[in-house]
Amino acid sequence: MNDLLYVNGGNPLNGTITVRGAKNFVSKSMVASLLGETPSVLRNVPQIRDVKVVSGLLDLHGVNVKYDTDAGILDLDPSNVESAHVADIDAHAGSSRIPILFCGPLLHRLGEAFIPDLGGCRIGDRPIDYHLDILRQFGAVVDKRPNGIHLRAPRRLHGAKISLPYPSVGATEQTLLTAVRADGITELSGAAIEPEIMDLIAVLQKMGAIISVDTDRVIRIEGVDRLEGYTHTALNDRIETASWAAAALATGGDITVKGATQPEMMTFLNTFRKVGGRFEVQDDGIRFWHAGGDLKSIVLETDVHPGFMTDWQQPLVVALTQATGLSIVHETVYENRFGFTDALRKMGATIQVYKECLGGRDCRFGQRNFHHSAVVSGPTPLTAADIEVPDLRGGFSHLIAALAAKGRSTVRGIGLIDRGYENFQDKLEALGAEVVRG
Ligand code: EPZ
Repeated sequence: MNDLLYVNGGNPLNGTITVRGAKNFVSKSMVASLLGETPSVLRNVPQIRDVKVVSGLLDLHGVNVKYDTDAGILDLDPSNVESAHVADIDAHAGSSRIPILFCGPLLHRLGEAFIPDLGGCRIGDRPIDYHLDILRQFGAVVDKRPNGIHLRAPRRLHGAKISLPYPSVGATEQTLLTAVRADGITELSGAAIEPEIMDLIAVLQKMGAIISVDTDRVIRIEGVDRLEGYTHTALNDRIETASWAAAALATGGDITVKGATQPEMMTFLNTFRKVGGRFEVQDDGIRFWHAGGDLKSIVLETDVHPGFMTDWQQPLVVALTQATGLSIVHETVYENRFGFTDALRKMGATIQVYKECLGGRDCRFGQRNFHHSAVVSGPTPLTAADIEVPDLRGGFSHLIAALAAKGRSTVRGIGLIDRGYENFQDKLEALGAEVVRG
């Protein structure tokens, strides 16, 4: 497939598209199938590259994966789980961060696991120190070698009292996927409580796990000896939903996102309205549109749930280039998530990035030399440009900018967007965009 998209921008996007299961839930729930003694069925699975990558990794470990792409149904049969060859796993190095979440289930089933060099978006250092600490606390032996990290469970992993220094999504999932089969009780404090994590807990409960979510980010898990397979319908993708909403705002359009659900979108909807966007919650989706007139500048801070998601930040910043006045955006989840603004500046946006914590409280990146605050001054018309996709969400933001800009833009490295946006070219065309793969 060609990795380049020509975009003839400057026209509003209007119409209806559908979102399916959340990328950041589906991949984790696929890993959870490894914990079951019987097959699992996952519904509402989008056709995105991350699903292919995780299917490949499961296949290497002996899980029989069948994917009906049109129906969006994955059948996962873990009856013959086995150790994969290190070289085979290594072939997947750099393509995803999911291998780190295989560790708990593999340690339970096989007593060993291997993590290659991890991939995922380059939006900061993205260390795995929390993950390794957690696995050690469960009793795993972690051995860092030049080709990757080897882990062993000399005996059955045991429950632990774990406290996270930051409510990391991945570290919370690591704890859940390991604790459910560990011996005894695990108490996790400082946990992330994103909707995708709640849906993973629902899956694990269906499998036979005993998990309670207490107040103040505390999750308690009672380990059990055996888990069964599950049947589950994935919650829909709230990041994709917000991305299309931002596209409606930036292009002056009107987009109905079928499958979008209000509870997971509440924080985004508040911000969308403050900027001047309008929305209507319908029975089977949400309609987002530009109400006409000026968009308003805002002060925005990203945060863990229930705050404003970091993954919503990049698409919304494109819309903020069209708002009147100064918007301040403080990114507190990742230290390096404003790289995508270089391309926006090239297209005529006025955006300055700062090392200081602007617009609100101090975060853990203040005084640490990271450009993690941005001031966007608008409105500035955007002009077509030749741009290169930097990461998944930054890439979609580039696409939005190209759609908003008058003239023909060339967006390179478009394949990265396939990682998390299902059939995005078809959806763009359905919304009236003029796009051609080069
Ligand atoms: C998940 O990443 C998502 N990825 C990200 O989505 C999302 O941005 C992020 O959660 C926050 O919502 C997947 O679900 C596959 P974290 P994850 O652990 O779990 C630091 C997208 O575009 N940290 O919550 O890797 C870390 O550096 C992607 O869909 C450590 O310091 O995120 C970051 O600053 C991008 N040590 C913060 O915690 C660790 O061991 C939050 O990261 C782990 C994390």
